[in-house]
Amino acid sequence: MILVTGGAGYIGSHTCVELLNAGFDVTVFDNFYNSNPEALVRVEQITGRKPELIQGDCRDRAAVVAALKQSQANAVIHFAGLKAVGESVEQPLSYYDNNVVGTLRLLEAMQECGVKTLVFSSSATVYGDPVQLPLTESHPLAPTNPYGRSKWMVEEMLRDLYRSDNTFRISILRYFNPVGAHDSGLIGEDPQGIPNNLMPFVAQVAVKRREILNVWGNDYPTPDGTGVRDYIHVVDLALGHLKALEALRNPQVNKFPECLTVNLGTGRGYSVLDVVRAYEQVSGRPVPYRIAPRRPGDIASCYADPKRALELLSWQAKLGLDAMCASSWHWQSINPKGYQS
Ligand code: NAD
Ligand code: UFG
Repeated sequence: MILVTGGAGYIGSHTCVELLNAGFDVTVFDNFYNSNPEALVRVEQITGRKPELIQGDCRDRAAVVAALKQSQANAVIHFAGLKAVGESVEQPLSYYDNNVVGTLRLLEAMQECGVKTLVFSSSATVYGDPVQLPLTESHPLAPTNPYGRSKWMVEEMLRDLYRSDNTFRISILRYFNPVGAHDSGLIGEDPQGIPNNLMPFVAQVAVKRREILNVWGNDYPTPDGTGVRDYIHVVDLALGHLKALEALRNPQVNKFPECLTVNLGTGRGYSVLDVVRAYEQVSGRPVPYRIAPRRPGDIASCYADPKRALELLSWQAKLGLDAMCASSWHWQSINPKGYQS
């Protein structure tokens, strides 16, 4: 049994589908702060299997202990947390509370219950401004905002925990830019309010929920001047979690001096305008845009060196930009207002 914290969220719900399809039993632990229980109904529709649900907050240690006992989980995948960079600058304490304290309480609960296998959602944001591209896992860690620092602090906590007790099995997955949706069109990204991220904004322009996309800057040192990112299909990303679980169960992992830390990206960068063009093509809809000033805090380019994931997890992203845009469009056009449609 796998306890999936934040399992009703965007990446969590896609991972639940892949876990259930692979035969794992799943219990979701979520406070629905940024998600809708409908996502789990859809997970059941897709897989024909029902994930158990325990509504609760990771910061509540007793609730996590109860959930671990009730579910009899032997591993945890920990997605629960807050993820908006801009909001983290305005409300840093909420980010340290949810992301750092939430993980600390979860780890205490796991220790108390003797559950020692953990896959943790980290982010490429822990690298900060790239000194060298592509980003390898050994790139210096220098996050530039409270969200990134909360992920970095949790990573440090996990490294310390593993050093103190190497019977823990911990994988730190550093995601690049997750986008797209399940092929069924039943689950996908459902941001509240105005989307911060590119792909959901483009999707809402294509479906005419928003008028025009602001392209934040076209004077970066990139081929067309717009920001370049390593977009990764959320289904590929979800499968990476299964591979991480599998690798943690491999006795060879005992030989790692550290937590199993890997980038999950494709290794390929696309510009904002590449994404706009691909989206227009697959949706057959125009995506009007205008060039606007740079967004504070943005970097020019960010993409992964994905070799380590292949070596250690036997995982590689398979789906390209067209599949990402097509699945996003499928979800968006069937559910123009997300789970409230
Ligand atoms: P999401 O907001 O869709 O999902 C997070 C889930 O956690 C939601 O269901 C939310 O209700 C729940 N949650 C939040 N705080 C909680 C708490 N204290 N207790 C219990 N449940 C709580 O986000 P997502 O995009 O699915 O991201 C999942 C994880 O991946 C996050 O940790 C995020 O920081 C990380 N990540 C996301 C991205 C991205 O671009 N989406 C990139 C890198 C890393
Ligand atoms: N962009 C626009 N217009 C928009 C939104 C974004 O031009 O309306 C541009 C950005 O300037 C950037 C690119 O599109 O060049 C991607 O921006 P996103 O906001 O989609 O993604 P970021 O790379 O800024 O950040 C995301 C997550 C972070 C995570 C980071 C690295 O939001 O949480 O990827 O994984 F840390």
